[in-house]
Amino acid sequence: MSNQNIYDNETFFEGYSQLRSREINSNNMLEQPAIKEMIPTLTGKSVLDLGCGCGANCMDFVKNGACSVIGVDISEKMLSVAKQESRHENIEYINMSMTDISKLNIKFDFVYSSLAFHYIEDFEKLCKDIYALLNENGCLLFSQEHPLITATIDGNGHYNKDENGRKISYTFSNYNEPGERYVHWYVDGVKKYHRTFSDTINALVKSGFRIEEVCEPQPKDWAMEKWPALYDEFIKPSFLIVKARK
Ligand SMILES: C[S@@+](CC[C@H](N)C(=O)[O-])C[C@H]1O[C@@H](n2cnc3c(N)ncnc32)[C@H](O)[C@@H]1O
Repeated sequence: MSNQNIYDNETFFEGYSQLRSREINSNNMLEQPAIKEMIPTLTGKSVLDLGCGCGANCMDFVKNGACSVIGVDISEKMLSVAKQESRHENIEYINMSMTDISKLNIKFDFVYSSLAFHYIEDFEKLCKDIYALLNENGCLLFSQEHPLITATIDGNGHYNKDENGRKISYTFSNYNEPGERYVHWYVDGVKKYHRTFSDTINALVKSGFRIEEVCEPQPKDWAMEKWPALYDEFIKPSFLIVKARK
């Protein structure tokens, strides 16, 4: 199955860029605070960022002492922003699909990916490719949309409300039917892949990884004060974060 490059779609890119430019969004308020706490010490380390987008994380890695960072992304538009806004002599951006990373002839101490793995069909192959690129004792840390979010075939998982309009539960379906999902996000037909929690963990284990930590981020008090909608995360998590070791 071919990789979709939706971030190069003009309408999608415009909508996504506006979302990310706002201070209050799920990345800044929930996913990033959680995954940042799980990043290992990077002093003198080589880093690969898969689906690096605009390169903000690549820049952070360099600021935190990484000696070299490679950011890989399928989207030319995202990388053109990265090359302008997150440029550094120790960062190289490569326009390629992460399904092709076995072609990279370099080893890394740390492989990172924020919210891109749910675009990949063959997760077990990706895990094997990453494992092969890691130095001994190297670390993989990634976030993805939570399987409860990706499950429903038509993308219409939804909250249910009580008589006062308060959200009380979340309805989803098709959980044990992994595969393609098409959702509307700025444009019709955005393709993602649903995997069960166990398929995700087992793909890592079969590839040789030891799971070190799993996180389904709960909102912090400071974030809920700024954005009360985050209370919904106590009904169901939006993200899954996994840290694994070679
Ligand atoms: C939600 S954005 C996250 C960007 C960045 N990691 C961040 O956190 O700001 C997902 C990124 O994954 C990239 N992506 C999607 N499929 C990809 C693939 N097959 N190979 C490489 N990058 C991909 C997209 O182009 C996009 O830049």
